Amino acid sequence: MAERVDAWTSDLLARHAASLSRHELLKCIRALSARYVEARQEISTKAPADTAGKRAAFAAFFAPIHFFTVRAIVSSLPGTTDVTTLVDLGCGTGAASAAWALDTGARVTGVDRTGWTIDEARWNWRALGVQGRAERGDLVASADALARRLDVRSARSTAVLLAWAVNELAPPTRARLLAAIEAMASRGAMVLVIEPIARRVSPWWHEWLSALAPLGARDADWKVPAALPPPLAALDEAAGFRREVLTARTLLVPWA
Ligand SMILES: C[S@@+](CC[C@H](N)C(=O)[O-])C[C@H]1O[C@@H](n2cnc3c(N)ncnc32)[C@H](O)[C@@H]1O
Repeated sequence: MAERVDAWTSDLLARHAASLSRHELLKCIRALSARYVEARQEISTKAPADTAGKRAAFAAFFAPIHFFTVRAIVSSLPGTTDVTTLVDLGCGTGAASAAWALDTGARVTGVDRTGWTIDEARWNWRALGVQGRAERGDLVASADALARRLDVRSARSTAVLLAWAVNELAPPTRARLLAAIEAMASRGAMVLVIEPIARRVSPWWHEWLSALAPLGARDADWKVPAALPPPLAALDEAAGFRREVLTARTLLVPWA
């Protein structure tokens, strides 16, 4: 498995770095990072990866960082290996659900509003041997539809993943999503929300935690050793991040 993951990381870098010099790729990595920090208020209306270079930075650098973060988190959470259906809302390039499904064999259904990420998710899942289906669409509409059709029996083997996606929604949309998430969790589905550890990114966190607490929700901050494959670690260092740990914040509604 380690070899497959290493090969995937290298192929991903080769695939996206092909049209950019290393200097250009590093510049785009830094620019996209700044976009998420400085232009956060625009995210719900304007996609941060709005150039080919930033899309390459997202797909080849930030997505694998998400992959390794989620892999470490999910392996420490109870019940995650029993999931057979994993619904990845705001799947982007599918990295987060790939990390979960790779070790568990869960089948992934991904939804994202951006066309290029859907193609990328399909490529990533194929490269990693994950069974997945990705569709372009609105994650809140998908959550509403799933909440309507999910019965108690299928909910018990279903997990809903929202990785670094809820913070991109405008407040009214996020409120609608919370209602759908409550409906799915109350029927027994597992829910895992992952966001950056920085508190200012998710001012809605406590509202979500309070709403989902009666269903057993708990939150946690994670700092896991950054055991990145050498090409990714080299890029991380060259971009100036020099991560020793991968960080995230999670809100988990476990199995009922
Ligand atoms: C920071 S990316 C995270 C992607 C992926 N979950 C990961 O962990 O790498 C956030 C994703 O959410 C998607 N997104 C934001 N709002 C959305 C919406 N209303 N419907 C569908 N996708 C949405 C964006 O297109 C983007 O791909």
